[in-house]
Amino acid sequence: MGLVTINEGTCTKCGICAKACPAGIISLAEGFPSTIEKIEKGCITCGHCVAACPTAALSHCRMSPEECEPLDAGWRLTPEQVGSLIKGRRSVRNFRPEPLAPGLIADLLGMVRHAPTGMNSQSVSWKVVLDEQEVQFLSLAVVEWMRAKEEDQGYNFRGMLKAWEMGRDPILRKAPALIIAHGAVDDRMAPASATIALATLDLAALPFGLGTCWAGFLTMAAAGSPGVATALGLPPDHRMYGGLMIGYPEFDYARIPTRNPARVIWG
Ligand SMILES: Cc1cc2nc3c(=O)[nH]c(=O)nc-3n(C[C@H](O)[C@H](O)[C@H](O)COP(=O)(O)O)c2cc1C
Repeated sequence: MGLVTINEGTCTKCGICAKACPAGIISLAEGFPSTIEKIEKGCITCGHCVAACPTAALSHCRMSPEECEPLDAGWRLTPEQVGSLIKGRRSVRNFRPEPLAPGLIADLLGMVRHAPTGMNSQSVSWKVVLDEQEVQFLSLAVVEWMRAKEEDQGYNFRGMLKAWEMGRDPILRKAPALIIAHGAVDDRMAPASATIALATLDLAALPFGLGTCWAGFLTMAAAGSPGVATALGLPPDHRMYGGLMIGYPEFDYARIPTRNPARVIWG
């Protein structure tokens, strides 16, 4: 079986598959679309050839048109809807002490699989912590790292350590759950792919009534502290590239805070 199979009964030779292929592997030189064999290795299995074909005439060896969910005509939300979602999102630091259902997180991560990844590597890995005590254990590991760093120049964790000693959790905010994106240390695209996946998850959580907050201190500590890295329990050749605290917000926001104007150099 070749890389792509064409149904000659339904293919209209419109050439969209060739235009959509990011690697330029498909040609219509022979009439019907076919792949240029010597550059087939450049296929990143992005599925654009299958997804763009208006008549479902093209099948990729890893993906048939039947396996690809049809796009509903209403999938493009209005600019107002998208603007409200982006502007209405807030970093949530006060959570209801309500556990999250694993199925809900699985659904969210199922959506986030469709976020872009470098070279379509789809290599983002996740660690999901659904036990509030375990989240607290990670906060404690970060606090221990902060205590060790307190004397170092360039760090000032005094206020956070004081808050911790007063029974607050300024690290993971007593969140009921935590989602960590990780990937292989030697994957050069992993930091960007993981960050994009987390940013997508950040927005995807909103229609479910969930709130999130980026776990920046945990990410910083995971990179700098073998103790925190061990507490995370990731594969030895993996690194944490970011994480989100997640849970049901204790309160809603009534307004959108102002932000600086976009700083742009127009070319
Ligand atoms: C990379 C990154 C790391 C962050 N780390 C933390 C963190 O560790 N703790 C926290 O409370 N907020 C953290 N935040 C949230 C920011 O403080 C927040 O995005 C900013 O104040 C704007 O508020 P908003 O998200 O509600 O618009 C982080 C945000 C980003 C993008």
